[in-house]
Amino acid sequence: MGDLQGAEKIGKIPVVLPRLPRWRSLLRSFALAKDPLPVLNEALARYGDTVELFIGGVEKSILTRDPGLTQHVLQKNHRNYAKSKFTQGFSRYIGHGLLTNEGPDWLRQRRLIQPGFHRQRVAGLTGLMQEITAETLAPLAARAAEAGGAATVEVHALMTRLTFRIIARSVFSTNFPEAELDRLAGLITEIQAFFVRSIRQPYLKPWFRFKGHFKYHDALAAELRTLLAGLIAQRQQANARPGATPPDDLLQMLLDVRYEDTGEPMTPDRLIDEALILLVAGHETSANALTWLTYLLAHHPSEAVVVQTEMATVLAGRPPTFEDLPRLGSALHAVQETMRRYPPAWMVDRVALADDEYNGLRIPKGTLFSLYFHGLHHDEKYWPNPQEFRPGRFAPGQAPPVQPNAFVPFGGGPRLCIGMQFALTEMQLVTLELLRQFDLEWVPGQPPVTMQPLITLRPKHDFQVRLRLRPTA
Ligand code: HEM
Repeated sequence: MGDLQGAEKIGKIPVVLPRLPRWRSLLRSFALAKDPLPVLNEALARYGDTVELFIGGVEKSILTRDPGLTQHVLQKNHRNYAKSKFTQGFSRYIGHGLLTNEGPDWLRQRRLIQPGFHRQRVAGLTGLMQEITAETLAPLAARAAEAGGAATVEVHALMTRLTFRIIARSVFSTNFPEAELDRLAGLITEIQAFFVRSIRQPYLKPWFRFKGHFKYHDALAAELRTLLAGLIAQRQQANARPGATPPDDLLQMLLDVRYEDTGEPMTPDRLIDEALILLVAGHETSANALTWLTYLLAHHPSEAVVVQTEMATVLAGRPPTFEDLPRLGSALHAVQETMRRYPPAWMVDRVALADDEYNGLRIPKGTLFSLYFHGLHHDEKYWPNPQEFRPGRFAPGQAPPVQPNAFVPFGGGPRLCIGMQFALTEMQLVTLELLRQFDLEWVPGQPPVTMQPLITLRPKHDFQVRLRLRPTA
């Protein structure tokens, strides 16, 4: 792929990083834009865990799967690292909520909102998660029963619909007509798709401008905010009625919190920003993880049996409660192993705000980092037979034990995913309900399922799995 330029080693990280020359990066830029994972994996296989390259032949970046350097950037010296202009560009459409915010303002918001995601609130949302999962699976079970016991389903479409309903109703548990829900999902999807295109193909920007695409998507973003503002106003009016009992959902949490220093609530604009970011950050990630989980379990039925057997012992046929989840570890291990193989956030970027140093490696101000979680999750030094799907790796007492720094699906440091507990609970519950009702069968004759790493790691094309009703369901 490229010539190695200088790789003087100190410890694990070379003082002078191996570098893919710009011309070779440029040569590979089309392959990188089309299918980045093989190009990045090839660079790391050839040069080591950390390499300097030029994204698209233009943007100099340090690509790393080194857990120490990843931790340095995300945690140990996190103050020196901000999100890159790519992430910040997203705020044009989705505002300045936690995911896109920076600096002291981000910290103030994070401190304000963090307590709203404590265990008890997530526990309080499990009933809703289960209700929506049951509602979504019921027509499939009916279809399977009618068709003699099995029905095929497009998995990514199913999981996208399910997780959007779960997050939307966890935020706005009341007053959510189906049509508004669909419009909201549609707006977010369309805006996100355009944003990814404008990042991937920056040379098309003049064309997009000429065709009015920026204006059009700005208008969609404005419609999105108006929709949310309406929902928030409805809630405030409902709460103001005498004797009203506000629901215990995430919007109410955002309405109730007060800044420590001023005692004031969030401004209406802020409320929209934060509610919107929860919808955006909280559905595609979980949808992709559950899609890959279904794919993997359909190919490894014996792993599904492990979950079903444990469930039968612990629950004896009743649905699980939040308190049961710790005793249903197999479902969680399947979710974790899926996120190792297919981390929804496959790469996270940061930029150095000032000169820095890590183990002798000089990091000049402005250095762009591509923290390659997918690479780290497949490094043989931490994961024997990394291509194998083995949920048991995450079971207690395994050798070698999972090294926490080598498993980072939710990021790390102060910007660790605020929805981690929510997402894990949601995914564990969905897995349990799916496997309680159905056995999963791969539908033969489909084209190979490949990865499409956009903002999140999704399958390039949807695929089908056959859901076969279980006798006990
Ligand atoms: C499988 C599911 C999920 C995965 C893999 C995931 C992953 C991540 C990662 C890696 C980050 C850090 C990004 C960075 O450091 O640049 C993050 C941040 C964030 N996530 Fe998640 N996430 C998931 C689900 C959720 C859910 C369900 C919610 C909301 C309920 C959520 C809300 C957020 C927010 C608001 C941030 C920004 C936090 C901050 O910077 O303070 N995520 N997520």
